Amino acid sequence: MDLFEYQARDLFAKHDVPVLAGEVIDTPEAARAATERLGGKSVVKAQVKVGGRGKAGGVKLAATPDEAVARATDILGMDIKGHTVHKVMIAETAPEIVEEYYVSYLLDRTNRTFLAMASVQGGVEIEVVAEENPEALAKVPVNANEGVSIEKAREIVAQAKFPADVAEQVAEILVTLWDTFVKEDALLVEVNPLAKVADGRVIALDGKVSLDENAEFRQPEHEALVDHAAANPLEAAAKAKNLNYVKLDGEVGIIGNGAGLVMSTLDVVAYAGEAHGGVKPANFLDIGGGASAAVMANGLEIILGDPDVKSVFVNVFGGITACDEVANGIVQALQLLADKGEEVTKPLVVRLDGNNAELGRKILSDANHPLVQRVDTMDGAADRAAELAAAK
Ligand SMILES: Nc1ncnc2c1ncn2[C@@H]1O[C@H](COP(=O)(O)OP(=O)(O)OP(=O)(O)O)[C@@H](O)[C@H]1O
Ligand SMILES: [Mg+2]
Repeated sequence: MDLFEYQARDLFAKHDVPVLAGEVIDTPEAARAATERLGGKSVVKAQVKVGGRGKAGGVKLAATPDEAVARATDILGMDIKGHTVHKVMIAETAPEIVEEYYVSYLLDRTNRTFLAMASVQGGVEIEVVAEENPEALAKVPVNANEGVSIEKAREIVAQAKFPADVAEQVAEILVTLWDTFVKEDALLVEVNPLAKVADGRVIALDGKVSLDENAEFRQPEHEALVDHAAANPLEAAAKAKNLNYVKLDGEVGIIGNGAGLVMSTLDVVAYAGEAHGGVKPANFLDIGGGASAAVMANGLEIILGDPDVKSVFVNVFGGITACDEVANGIVQALQLLADKGEEVTKPLVVRLDGNNAELGRKILSDANHPLVQRVDTMDGAADRAAELAAAK
């Protein structure tokens, strides 16, 4: 989960990484009081989860509270690379910036280690530095068991060739930043720029943090950082029902059991769709092994609630999940939706194979629902579902 800059700032502050005061607001008028609290001037910063805000006009200095209101008016509602600005941070203005550096920690999956990166050429996009001037970006592996002691931090500082006058300050910041990385279960913590200001202090002026969602069970405070407004409503509803669902941009709703089967179903549907005007899968949904009728009903409800879906392909290979359970789930789900007054108008193509397939097929035949069609091969069913989606 990627965080907003103001959330990163708060986590940095919690772990003693030096930051400036700042508060987040969502109306222009609130910029006035926030700026007054900062002594009458501020920096108005767009809060969007995308880089390059400064260049896009999303970071502006305000010399007075009135100016802060004007800049917040400009920035709120602005579109930055497809992200609408709903919040701005009113930040304390840094003393004159003398130099801008870059530091980060991340999980380096390729090399199965953690990695520290540091450069005295910060402020700009670090990808550009890495591309055009790779020797200016120090990369130092960090052993998970040893972490970053002050000695290790000094080694990173030396490799990145920080000037002597800031070396010890930066080393101390690297220790606190490592603390943030570990204690918050982050996958990335990045400071760009880490600025040296006129009074000699080194301060984190912009931060990027990505948290590891696999650790949420031991990070109860992270729930409060979730941006519910931005979540896809279908994905949020699926998550609330403990379903493994990912929204895609096609028209054929997909339900299957087992991630591998569902992945190959997406491929088969995309391939079949080429012959039917290019229709594509509308989602990934794995109802898992041993899924009950209730789980099937939940899954169908999510998919049928997706306005992009024109047809649904239920592809089940009965292993632990017996096909009769699945068939009952389909019948019950349609009944449940009818009882709720939600008119189902989308055709369902069902392929059942494996454990108790015959029984499952019989249940569907007996139910004789006008919208349910059985096709007993995967390719045939994919083709039929694509054809039905294209015809809508
Ligand atoms: N609190 C501040 N006081 C003074 N100047 C600031 C402050 N925050 C940022 N700046 C200046 O604005 C520049 C851009 O700010 P920042 O790094 O936060 O945004 P950005 O780099 O455009 O965004 P992103 O990192 O998302 O691409 C900084 O390099 C710094 O020079
Ligand atoms: Mg930045």
